[in-house]
Amino acid sequence: MQQLGDRPLDWIDGGVSMVDQTRLPDRYEVMRIESVPDMVAAIRRLSVRGAPAIGVAGALGVALAIQAHGTSGPDFDRAIRSLREARPTAVNLARMVDRVAPLAGQGLDQVLAEALAIRDEEIAASVSMGEYGADLVTELVSERATARAMTICNTGGLATIERGTALAVIQTLHERGTLAEALALETRPLLQGARLTAWELARMGAPHRLLVDSAANFMLARRQADVVLTGADRVAANGDTANKIGTFSLALGARYAGVPFIVVAPESTVDMDTPGGDAIPIEDRDATEVVSVRDRATAPANTDAANPAFDITPSDLITAIVTDRRVVRLDRGDSLRSVPLGHLRRRAAESPSQ
Ligand code: MRU
Repeated sequence: MQQLGDRPLDWIDGGVSMVDQTRLPDRYEVMRIESVPDMVAAIRRLSVRGAPAIGVAGALGVALAIQAHGTSGPDFDRAIRSLREARPTAVNLARMVDRVAPLAGQGLDQVLAEALAIRDEEIAASVSMGEYGADLVTELVSERATARAMTICNTGGLATIERGTALAVIQTLHERGTLAEALALETRPLLQGARLTAWELARMGAPHRLLVDSAANFMLARRQADVVLTGADRVAANGDTANKIGTFSLALGARYAGVPFIVVAPESTVDMDTPGGDAIPIEDRDATEVVSVRDRATAPANTDAANPAFDITPSDLITAIVTDRRVVRLDRGDSLRSVPLGHLRRRAAESPSQ
């Protein structure tokens, strides 16, 4: 078995070590990536996935490009392009490759230091989002001592290196003793909710139940959840948010039921250069993912399928956007342009004085 570093995504002896998310929950397998084509393939098949995690993977991929091609030239440029284009929707990937690649001229060590700095920033951001988000949930659900939180896809440590985005909020509520239960959506077609979120919730010891995706809105209408928490792959300047397919339906259901719908994402996922949701590229994935479940056919042979991996939730369905540096209350007329960046927060347990 490959060695896993101090962090779930790490640079060890000239290669990237990371958990292969496609193997979970059956196997916790660490894979080693030593070339850019292998990194691009790992990102495309979702061995590493989740907006912040693919940003870090892309940044470490730049180090792999230097090892193979030196610090400049057509092969290096091609490798960088293939990394930034491996998946189009999460802004973190292209953004972090673009942050690190210009440092190539300063050498491998400088590039690695920057890539690992990005990773550490994401870890700190996940702690901060958990704190801000848990405070907001407690405020919005003030009639109950404990909150029932519905979530989609996987937004935990696997997707972000540690703790997560929406799942960091759920973890923080759980640690504070204010989580009644998490309701995780299965998340067809690739079952990130069933395979990964249920696994992470079990590991953190949080009470949880799994739902088929189509049960979500009925349960919201029956008021069996107090809040919906989702991550984001890109938040546009007007607050429109791209996230896993099914998120838009969930937002509509939450609006119908009068349940707060909160997007949790680090500032690294906020893209002020993209004006609105229509301008966010949506990844279309292979039809085979829809006509099968874990490699077993579920539809007649030759059935064609549509497979958009993400959808756009319009900002007017979003109660608030929680980042690592601020809470933007869209329901109160705030916007990403009007709310200034605040401070990173630390867990109370880590730093009682703050
Ligand atoms: O296709 P995936 O599994 O990479 O999709 C991931 C999501 O939609 C997450 O919600 C998003 O990246 C935020 S994770 C912190």
